[in-house]
Amino acid sequence: MPPKIISVHSFRGGTGKSNTTASLSALLAKKGYRVGVVDTDIQSPGIHVLFNLDESEMVHSLNDYLWGKCEISETAHDVSGHLNADIKGQIFLIPSSIQAGEIVRVLREGYDVSLLNDGFRDVLKTMNLDYLIVDTHPGLNEETLLSIAVSDVLILIMRPDQQDYQGTAVTVDIARKLDVPNLFLVINKMPKSFDLESVQEQAESNYHCRVAAILPHADEMMELASSDIFALRFPDHEITQELEALANLIES
Ligand SMILES: Nc1ncnc2c1ncn2[C@@H]1O[C@H](COP(=O)(O)OP(=O)(O)OP(=O)(O)O)[C@@H](O)[C@H]1O
Ligand SMILES: [Mg+2]
Repeated sequence: MPPKIISVHSFRGGTGKSNTTASLSALLAKKGYRVGVVDTDIQSPGIHVLFNLDESEMVHSLNDYLWGKCEISETAHDVSGHLNADIKGQIFLIPSSIQAGEIVRVLREGYDVSLLNDGFRDVLKTMNLDYLIVDTHPGLNEETLLSIAVSDVLILIMRPDQQDYQGTAVTVDIARKLDVPNLFLVINKMPKSFDLESVQEQAESNYHCRVAAILPHADEMMELASSDIFALRFPDHEITQELEALANLIES
């Protein structure tokens, strides 16, 4: 099967992109796949925390690649051994720099966004990846538009919150214009008191796309506090089961 690029995005922040990306990558790696994870949230990176990658271990970051200091494959850190779990495949994390100077430089000077596209293709090939999962910055910016445009699968996360509904509609529109082949909605942080079926029906009729998972709001997730990967720590949890179904959908 040709490798797939999967972007995980939400219009608003704090919807669960990074946690979902990390769990999804672990579930795919458990199946035996070689999975790349790239943090394109250059302004506020964070997913490296979930993979327990310390700043001192970051040899090269995505920023270095974007400024021509190294090849993209040199930024890919094998974090499989960090996960404390039996994983058949491998996970390679491409982190964004957490150094203030590097972040400010991107905001001030910008960079050639087309390098991201080249980098995605290059790392899929040179690292022999099956999947590359892109964890994005919320809202719409250049790297997000590019990530969406080159995706085989776009996972759009939203909370059942009126503020999320509108922004999600905008993003769905853009994904359609950019001809993303597979668009899946994930509803996260669902309160127990909400009626699951009516939320799902409403979302599907509003956006005309499939709700691929509904994840309950969970104290276990808050207590984990991004210190580990949820799907590995809670393999039997309802959230993990929903994400397993999503992983199967991506695989099919
Ligand atoms: N289903 C859930 N139940 C409870 N808490 C959750 C759930 N999903 C995510 N969270 C919590 O919400 C917060 C934000 O999660 P996360 O960092 O994954 O979101 P994000 O979309 O990547 O945020 P950002 O837009 O800032 O990058 C974290 O504290 C996380 O533990
Ligand atoms: Mg995030």
